[in-house]
Amino acid sequence: MAMYHVFSSSSISDLLIAIMCLSIVQCPLCTIAQNIDTTNDVYILCNVHKYENGDPFGDTLNTALAALQQKSATGSLYYLLVDNASAPFMAGFQCRGDLSSDLCSQCVESASQTVLSSCPNAIGSRVQKDGCFLRYENYTFAVPDTSIITELCNVDKNNDSRFQAYVAQIVARVVSEAPNGHLPYSSATSPISSSNSSSAPSTLYALAQCLNYLSRSECSECLSAHSSSWQDCDNAVGTQIHSVSC
Ligand SMILES: *[C@@H]1O[C@H](CO)[C@@H](O)[C@H](O)[C@H]1NC(C)=O
Ligand SMILES: *[C@@H]1O[C@H](CO)[C@@H](O)[C@H](O)[C@H]1NC(C)=O
Ligand SMILES: *[C@@H]1O[C@H](CO)[C@@H](O)[C@H](O)[C@H]1NC(C)=O
Ligand SMILES: *[C@@H]1O[C@H](CO)[C@@H](O)[C@H](O)[C@H]1NC(C)=O
Repeated sequence: MAMYHVFSSSSISDLLIAIMCLSIVQCPLCTIAQNIDTTNDVYILCNVHKYENGDPFGDTLNTALAALQQKSATGSLYYLLVDNASAPFMAGFQCRGDLSSDLCSQCVESASQTVLSSCPNAIGSRVQKDGCFLRYENYTFAVPDTSIITELCNVDKNNDSRFQAYVAQIVARVVSEAPNGHLPYSSATSPISSSNSSSAPSTLYALAQCLNYLSRSECSECLSAHSSSWQDCDNAVGTQIHSVSC
């Protein structure tokens, strides 16, 4: 288990409160990770506005969450649902590009339980788990938005002078490959050599992903906007940068 601290949390509308900005997360970027718990929470955002019990919004939401779970159970790794029948409503999920459909489905089920238990009666919420993302709103949210939600820095440092060059290289690679990938996703591993072989890790792992509603060029813009943000973490051996759409 790696220790992270939250570097910043900004650009979120004041209508939302981050009810859990984890100070500790498992290290999802350490391995390709079929063996870690993909249902760990990275962040949960709840709109502070509530709907009343008995409001049709509650039925719309429950129906939508059931539909999303069903969609993930049939192997979908991404789904966006629009229900404009009585009032604007949008909901969707997306799984990390390397998850099996079974793990995706488990993650979406967990995310859907999390929104109900952590954001009761909220008119909108977002949950980012290690393995998936789920969001619903009473408006259309499928637009590009590069605002940072959170940056997590591993508390372990690597001061090897070559380490940053390796990181820059692997980040540039996944940032350039992801927009052309499936679910716009790319991951890469790279062996690293270190002058301090006794303590330094020997493999670097990186992944980049956009929400699937972005076009290729929008995905590329979003990832490029944050491709240097890992430097904010001052020699950390691992970083996670989460913006609204990538
Ligand atoms: C849903 O309705 C809202 C408001 O009437 C509108 O702005 C939006 O474009 C609609 N969305 C879709 C996908 O039809
Ligand atoms: C969403 O809900 C809020 C709070 O009830 C309301 O102020 C807003 O107008 C709603 N948005 C739409 C598009 O209906
Ligand atoms: C690594 O560098 C940071 C800042 O550049 C410094 O605060 C820290 O003490 C260094 N750690 C080691 C083990 O040299
Ligand atoms: C090299 O490893 C030693 C032993 O683990 C550690 O104390 C030292 O801070 C490391 N030096 C650098 C530059 O990372």
